[in-house]
Amino acid sequence: MTKNYKRTLVTSALPYANGPVHIGHMAGVYIPADIYVRYLRLKGEEVIHIGGSDEHGVPITIRAKKEGVTPQDIVDKYHSIIKKSFKDFGITFDIYSRTSSEIHKETASEFFLKLYNDNQFEEQTSEQYYDEEAQMFLADRYIMGECPHCGNPNAYGDQCESCGTSLSPTDLKNPRSTISGSAPVMRETKHWYLPLDKHESWLRQWILEDHKEWKSNVYGQCKSWLDMGLHPRAVSRDLDWGVPIPLPDAKGKVLYVWFDAPIGYISNTKELLPDSWEKWWKSEDTKLVHFIGKDNIVFHCIVFPAMLKAEGSYILPENVPANEFLNLEGDKISTSRNWAVWLHEYLEDFPGQQDTLRYVLTSNAPETKDNDFTWKDFQARHNNELVAILGNFINRALVLTQKYFDNKVPQIHELTDYDKDTLKEFENIKSSIESYLDTYRFRDALKEAMSLARIGNKYLADTEPWKVAKTDMQRVETILNIALQITANLGIVFEPFLPFSAKKIRTFVNMENLTWNQLGQMNLLPAGHQLNQPELLFAKIEDETIEKQIQKLLDTKKINEGTPEIKVAPQKENIAFDDFTKLDLRVGTVLECTKVAKADKLLQFLIDDGMNQRTIVSGIAAWYKPEELTGKQVCFIANLAPRKLKGIESQGMILSVENADGSLSLIQPSKEVNPGSQIG
Ligand code: 2FM
Ligand code: ZN
Repeated sequence: MTKNYKRTLVTSALPYANGPVHIGHMAGVYIPADIYVRYLRLKGEEVIHIGGSDEHGVPITIRAKKEGVTPQDIVDKYHSIIKKSFKDFGITFDIYSRTSSEIHKETASEFFLKLYNDNQFEEQTSEQYYDEEAQMFLADRYIMGECPHCGNPNAYGDQCESCGTSLSPTDLKNPRSTISGSAPVMRETKHWYLPLDKHESWLRQWILEDHKEWKSNVYGQCKSWLDMGLHPRAVSRDLDWGVPIPLPDAKGKVLYVWFDAPIGYISNTKELLPDSWEKWWKSEDTKLVHFIGKDNIVFHCIVFPAMLKAEGSYILPENVPANEFLNLEGDKISTSRNWAVWLHEYLEDFPGQQDTLRYVLTSNAPETKDNDFTWKDFQARHNNELVAILGNFINRALVLTQKYFDNKVPQIHELTDYDKDTLKEFENIKSSIESYLDTYRFRDALKEAMSLARIGNKYLADTEPWKVAKTDMQRVETILNIALQITANLGIVFEPFLPFSAKKIRTFVNMENLTWNQLGQMNLLPAGHQLNQPELLFAKIEDETIEKQIQKLLDTKKINEGTPEIKVAPQKENIAFDDFTKLDLRVGTVLECTKVAKADKLLQFLIDDGMNQRTIVSGIAAWYKPEELTGKQVCFIANLAPRKLKGIESQGMILSVENADGSLSLIQPSKEVNPGSQIG
């Protein structure tokens, strides 16, 4: 069903502000989105492109903890790095904002409340892991333990990174909190759920029947979700970073990051257009298109539409042209293994060469399946296509015009059959590129655009005006007129793909304001029109430049292989000496040690502390047998406020150290000392 849309609202996935952006992000989301919006703008259509940083979620809090800073510090840092990278690469957002903004918090809270008041949620109480030492519920990522599938002792509560299995925290053997190291306990907590099962039937109709035109990778993924059956999804979390749940009985609870992030598209539109944002989100004549990567499909095709429908006043996306993943030199791009080409680093090594990366990432975009980026392919595409075809043609056309006609467009005279055939090839080019762009086939569209440059290059090679100049200047005038009209067309057609170069081309031909509707016309430059001084568009990339990049990756590989899984936590912030002296650290002798009933992880110690006997409960049962500890000396914090663990009052904390594999080892004095001796 084709509707008559008046305007297009384009959104690009909000990247998490916990790291910079890499080529995978660009190929998957931001370059295709930018091509699309540049194309629509050039056509004179009403379009806005909404972007921003996704600044909530657990990984950001984990990164902050590791670095000893606040989550706000983390998102402030990466928001500005990401924003700059997008600007540097010519990704044209109408707004690039962030989900930690006040307007977003307000918008997301209101959205939640509307659904809450309309009884669109179900409340459910469930048991979740709770860290009694840190006094907090543990998000899946804050729980580690042994993978039940491969035995990896450091699997996370949501996934084992060794074997890739998705897990839930209760699947882990010997779970431990990554916050305190203690064994978490189950505790009841209440959450709000979006009952996706109740939305299943209209979603089936809307996607599977009404949107058969969606890309096959997107349609296929949606179909398999729908065929498996949808279930209620929690939209809240027990966490202290995010948009607080705006209800009185929800202390310590925030909106789940995947609930608030897509609302970020709405908040950012509001921020951009405070008076007219509703026209973009609530009128049927707006076409809403979400550009995303494949891991975001379920959220944009099922969860967010269900949220919008439940709210009641919003439109639904017309299309969600998600891409698959881009690999790097045969391996999955990975932030933690530093296996990536980071945009800010690329620009340091290839200053001014944004279009080369845009070109390569579009030619090789993972539109229907995962693809691979290699530096050799990057070099080949640059040298053999951008330099040898596009750059070479434009340079020849301009330099010859300068040489023979003093930089003025020559007259056109009688056309040969070959001229006519060449011009004919331009007749259909506009509609064929448009049909690719309109259906999100950016690789094919770019190929078609490149074929124009190929036609031009071949035309000059075949007509050889530099030879004809010896005998027939009138013929040279015609040839160069045609070559210059092709050049001006290239200044239009490459604008969505290679905006920096297209702008240069339009400057060379001294026609800054060409529009998409002029594409295919062969009279864009009148005879006598003055051109500007030409410059080289693309310079060859030498082997040694590429070898340096390959070496950089080999070095990364070596580092990764040399240190599998071992990560040393960064040092925490400095503390004052006075703070240190507040800790009362002592050595004690273990008088008795027993297992705690119904708690696999806990051992109960009776310690001689030099003055008295005290009880301490410690989560090290997985690594020590009680009998081997009796009579041994241990180190402990003597003045930690007592806490109850499994009903037993623990009067302090026994010190142990966590090895890289997650195992715990007790800290003991190297020689026996008097019980109660202070450590310092
Ligand atoms: O996968 C991601 O990087 C998410 N931050 C995307 C969010 S898209 C939208 F919902 F905001
Ligand atoms: Zn595993």
